[in-house]
Amino acid sequence: MRTVTSYPHILHGCDYNPEQWLDRPDILAQDAELMKQAQINCVSLGIFAWSALEPAEGDYRLDWLAEIIDRLYANGIYTVLATPSGACPMWLAAKYPEVRRVHADRSREPAGGRHNHCYTSPVYREKVRAINEKLAERFASHPAVILWHVSNEIQGECHCPLCQDAFRGWLKEKYGSLDALNRAWWTAFWSNTYTEWEQIESPRGDCPIHGLALDWKRFCTAQTRSFFDAETAPLKAANPQIPVTTNFMGFYDGINYQELAKSLDVVSWDSYPAWHSMPDGDETYNAFWADAFSDMCRSMLGKPFLLMENTPSNTNWHDVCRPKTWGFHRLTAISNLAHGADSIQYFQWRQSRGCSEKFHGAVMTHANRTDTRVFQEVSDLGAALGRLDALCGARTDAHIAILYDIENHWAVNGAKGPRNTSIGDNDLMLRCYLPFWKAGYAVDFVNAETDFSGYHLLCVPMLYMLRADVAEKIRDYTKRGGTVLLTMHSGAVDENDLCFMGDTPAQGLAELAGIRFLEIDPLYEGQTETMHILKAPFPLAESYRLERLCERVAPAGAEILGVYDTGNPCMPDDLPCLTRNSFGRGTAYYLGGFAEDKFFSDFLISLAERLGVQPALDATFPHGVVAAERLGTDGTRFLFVMNWTREQKAVNLPYALRDYETGKIYQSKLPLSPYGAKILVKA
Ligand code: GLA
Ligand code: ZN
Repeated sequence: MRTVTSYPHILHGCDYNPEQWLDRPDILAQDAELMKQAQINCVSLGIFAWSALEPAEGDYRLDWLAEIIDRLYANGIYTVLATPSGACPMWLAAKYPEVRRVHADRSREPAGGRHNHCYTSPVYREKVRAINEKLAERFASHPAVILWHVSNEIQGECHCPLCQDAFRGWLKEKYGSLDALNRAWWTAFWSNTYTEWEQIESPRGDCPIHGLALDWKRFCTAQTRSFFDAETAPLKAANPQIPVTTNFMGFYDGINYQELAKSLDVVSWDSYPAWHSMPDGDETYNAFWADAFSDMCRSMLGKPFLLMENTPSNTNWHDVCRPKTWGFHRLTAISNLAHGADSIQYFQWRQSRGCSEKFHGAVMTHANRTDTRVFQEVSDLGAALGRLDALCGARTDAHIAILYDIENHWAVNGAKGPRNTSIGDNDLMLRCYLPFWKAGYAVDFVNAETDFSGYHLLCVPMLYMLRADVAEKIRDYTKRGGTVLLTMHSGAVDENDLCFMGDTPAQGLAELAGIRFLEIDPLYEGQTETMHILKAPFPLAESYRLERLCERVAPAGAEILGVYDTGNPCMPDDLPCLTRNSFGRGTAYYLGGFAEDKFFSDFLISLAERLGVQPALDATFPHGVVAAERLGTDGTRFLFVMNWTREQKAVNLPYALRDYETGKIYQSKLPLSPYGAKILVKA
């Protein structure tokens, strides 16, 4: 069985912080036994334990950790072993102030807290290397250790003098000369021409030199990745067989996750939607957002990911921290499995007694009892996961791709105009995703480096920043028979955020789409326009509402499928809004207006059907019921059906299905209880 770790079962685990309980051997002694009862098979250990592992410089105390790892292993519980760099100990921050991160306003972080170190500081890198080496020497060959959890939720940027120097070094390497840099950054604007490298500094906030702002973000990603690689070097040197991961944070946009993922053996993430925030108990929106990021994680390395954290009950940091309601935990877990997770792991095993997270949910609460609803639900889920070995390593076959380029996201959001609030690139991407998610079509999130050739449909929402190689790939993909959807505000600038001269979308995408950009008309909140469909290649409504951005284009060969109704008698009434163009053996659709969800749902699902893409289940799902599929390494096709509403629902089946867990056969109707989830196979 192929798995993402060497452990051939779905991981069911939790963050475990015994360092907070070293003076309570009675508690520690209970934990292994209680974990077994909760069907926990792995723990993430040592995440913020540096001051317990090295209480004073060079004074390493690893025995307590060894004891815990051994005791858990003796009880059949494996270890996901963390490097402790996510929280810098007080002694280190006090002795070497250079390790403390500096903010954009140039103020240095005080000691304490977490995720607040510099990624450049040679001292911090050396101290991390040293402790990682000790951990690796001692544990990298321990049979309990199945995965390295490097740091924690790697994030943020540092503007200290060391980082400024490193940034300048990175720029010298990239541009070779100040002349080249000045040209790329268009610095003649506002007399910003640099005459010495030392004049270059990281942005202090809103930065008028957009090329600088972009390069700074690229540098932060490169520096974070180089820090990460330095962190993992001693781990890999000790035992290259143990995979490394770090836990991502959803659509966090501080660094380029797709780039950092290249240094990981397996992607993992921490999923914390604001469950139960809707008045009617409809969790569809929360679920869709979380599943979108799961699909992104799965797409990054093209294999299952790990759900490194979720809460078994409540968080303590949402505005309002509601616990998952009765039975809901199982639903969220199954949904993660459905979208490619090979684990369900929690923050946290045991609630801490003090500090920031004392009220965060945990498997064991302060009451220290097992007869709680949460403990019971976790144990039941663990037992269910224990019967899902065949799911380990199961793949997802997606024939639909959505292009997501975070550099484009940085650029379009920092561009100054045409809308300086909610330009909506991510929303547009999610509008493309939502109908597929609802109808059970698998979607990959791809980037410029992905091979598009296996996809039947490629959605390219708001690709404002267009690199020549990406444009070439999109054209080539279409020419060879692919179908592509381009949208407004695409192909406007190059990789330095310099506007293209001549017709746009540039780099041949105007020819591809058969249209030419005229102007873009952003709408205020509450203002709308209408798209009238003139000619529907497949069933569409007569009209759709548009908001946010309306791009006016001239047709240049494309067939006009829809036109704008601006409501403005001074505007022509035949401006194209939706077009279709044949290009080579393929087809390019172009959408000019930021359309309502219904458009994407009508348009994209009809298109997918026409292209012969198969959903997980060929059925009509009632609102809030969704499905997804994974293909086991033994050939089993797992079908997951989730009900995100508080109502009883049912799906009419095209063929009989068997409940994988209970063996029950459903001939023609699949009933789903409120917040119910089923794992099924063909009967
Ligand atoms: C993050 C962190 C954890 C913990 C949880 C709380 O995901 O990685 O250490 O703080 O949030 O929800
Ligand atoms: Zn720094």
